[in-house]
Amino acid sequence: MSHTDSSIIKNMVFIIAALVVFMIIIIIAANWLSNGSTNVADDSMVQEAIENRIAPIGQVNTGAVAPVAAAAAGPVDGKAIYQQACFACHGTGAAGAPKLGDSGAWSARIGQGMDTLNDHAIKGFKGMPARGGQNLDDDSVKAAVKYMVDNSK
Ligand code: HEC
Repeated sequence: MSHTDSSIIKNMVFIIAALVVFMIIIIIAANWLSNGSTNVADDSMVQEAIENRIAPIGQVNTGAVAPVAAAAAGPVDGKAIYQQACFACHGTGAAGAPKLGDSGAWSARIGQGMDTLNDHAIKGFKGMPARGGQNLDDDSVKAAVKYMVDNSK
């Protein structure tokens, strides 16, 4: 091995060692950066925002049950429940549902009495799914029935 050969090898070893050190520094820097808030998947608020954004819009006939107004304190808001759980059919007449405000469609039904209407709304009746297909408690369903009846006479 000549003197030139060994100095070339020394130089190469030095260059490779320098590259390895440089690589390690890059890896450490990359790790350090990704531990910051730039890592989207680790940021629970961003994650939550994404989940909200991609959540299904219409919850009505999905079979997925979301408790509605169950935890809310104070009197149940029949109008809010109607809008959230009943409007899809009773606001549009979908599936042959009697529409809100259509006194002709409601008068005979109202004639059955509130107990029967509540019972049909809670247990289901022909095309009417039990509790509007939602996870509502009895009081919420009754409040929505009352709201519809009061506004359909
Ligand atoms: C998927 C559509 C749909 C949704 C959602 C829905 N309904 Fe109905 N509902 C119907 C249909 C259809 C009828 C008519 C059934 C029949 O008489 O053939 C009906 C009838 C009724 C009646 C009259 C029952 C009777 O004895 O004549 C009441 C009261 C009622 N719904 C309450 C509700 C309430 C309260 C909600 C919300 C919590 C709701 N509905 C959500 C479709 C729906």
